[in-house]
Amino acid sequence: MSNVLIFGPPGVGKGTQADLISKKYKLTHLSSGDLLRAELKHGRHKVKIKELLDAGKLVPDDMITEMIEKAVVQGLKKGGFLFDGYPRTLKQARSLDKFLKSKKVKLDAVINLKLSEKDAEKRILKRGQTSGRSDDNKKIIKARFGIYRTQTVPLLEYYKKQKKIINIDGRPAVIDVFAKIVEDLHEALKS
Ligand code: AP5
Repeated sequence: MSNVLIFGPPGVGKGTQADLISKKYKLTHLSSGDLLRAELKHGRHKVKIKELLDAGKLVPDDMITEMIEKAVVQGLKKGGFLFDGYPRTLKQARSLDKFLKSKKVKLDAVINLKLSEKDAEKRILKRGQTSGRSDDNKKIIKARFGIYRTQTVPLLEYYKKQKKIINIDGRPAVIDVFAKIVEDLHEALKS
């Protein structure tokens, strides 16, 4: 059983690749963004979540950690997970390590998808024409990139120390990025 994290800036293609990887490796795709957007419809914190998502800000660590842990417990019997969008802060990363350890599993690899902010912005703005996401606009994209740089990028050092990072160029076509991920992930999961 393997557990993999897909990491990278907003719009880099995490969700797109996570769908493909989770199908190929039969992992449960756990997207924190999708969990939060589902919560907007009926969840007990929907007003607070909406306010934060609309502003491109992170929801509190404890809130998202509780949601992820609940989903992990529900899916554990089915096998491994593909974490997408969580963890996003050092506190979340430490929580996840501790929680997985308590379940006698661990994170095996971190796929770091790389793309310039300029290209990622283009992708998000294009998606924004049809996505209906309130955070897919120029002003909020800027805020999301800022938060990514200050709060999320430090995780790369954290996982580098654990020797889990697989760097992947996010610029090529979806299918080519996927092929490279499969090639490198195969090696990483072997070792
Ligand atoms: P979340 O939903 O996780 O958004 P994000 O990280 O900003 O990422 P995106 O969904 O914008 O992009 P992506 O990298 O998944 O790219 P995608 O595959 O869609 O989080 C949203 C919000 O929730 C956060 O801002 C925060 O408020 C909150 N939140 C989430 N997690 C949290 C956490 N852990 N803690 C606290 N708060 C949290 O691709 C983008 C577009 O590009 C698509 O249209 C796609 O078709 C296209 N595309 C993909 N790959 C390619 C390619 N190779 N070539 C051309 N186009 C491509």
